[in-house]
Amino acid sequence: MKYIVVLPAAGSGKRMKAGHNKLFLTLRGKPILIHTLDVFEQDPNCMAIWLAVKPEERTIIQNMLHNYHITKVKGMPAGGDERQHSVYACVLAADATTGLILVHDAARPFIEPSVITKLTLRAYETGAAIAGVKAKDTMKRVRNHIIEETLDREQLWMIQTPQAFRASILIKAQQQAAQDGFLGTDEAMLVERLNIAVHVVESTYDNVKMTTQEDLLIGEAILQKRQQEEN
Ligand code: CTP
Ligand code: MG
Repeated sequence: MKYIVVLPAAGSGKRMKAGHNKLFLTLRGKPILIHTLDVFEQDPNCMAIWLAVKPEERTIIQNMLHNYHITKVKGMPAGGDERQHSVYACVLAADATTGLILVHDAARPFIEPSVITKLTLRAYETGAAIAGVKAKDTMKRVRNHIIEETLDREQLWMIQTPQAFRASILIKAQQQAAQDGFLGTDEAMLVERLNIAVHVVESTYDNVKMTTQEDLLIGEAILQKRQQEEN
């Protein structure tokens, strides 16, 4: 399925403690941001990329796009204080009223093309589909360090991006959230509020978000594994 992708890249990476936007850190010599962009640059179904950036980082990112031959970025609107605002800025800039919009964290460079294909197909059929993996650990609800409940792991999924939506659904959900001053941690939360079913598509545990220093080690290991598989 053809789609456009929105990549929020306007965070500050506080938990990474790099002293600058974590997306500029490199894995195997290439910035995390470029690893992510390359996935969509190479996917023939991706028609356009919209990137939310901090205005003060626009020039450095423009140079990176040039140096790494990224050609599909159609716009780089200014991000907001919250991730949700950055995503909304891109959706407004893209001005797409039909078709599919995929939202994907720029900080998740290892998304598998096969997951994107499954996800976009499901979103095309249903209107809303997001990527997730089954919880591996035993999950308990804990308050003040005391267990309240052991949750049924069969029903628990760890949710990732990408999240794909029919454009009309995502726009309606964002407008409603803005009107209500509602802040969600992902786009699905905004759509759930409209009582629209959001389908979960099984992704891979590789699709980690580069959040803290240890994630960089995991990232290097994933790249090494993939290179070995290629050889
Ligand atoms: N993001 C964004 N605008 C914001 C906050 C986050 O575009 N106001 C982007 C980040 O650049 C990242 C993605 O949203 O690609 C996921 O956010 P997260 O992993 O939390 O990144 P940061 O907010 O940069 O990191 P931290 O929360 O540790 O500061
Ligand atoms: Mg953040």
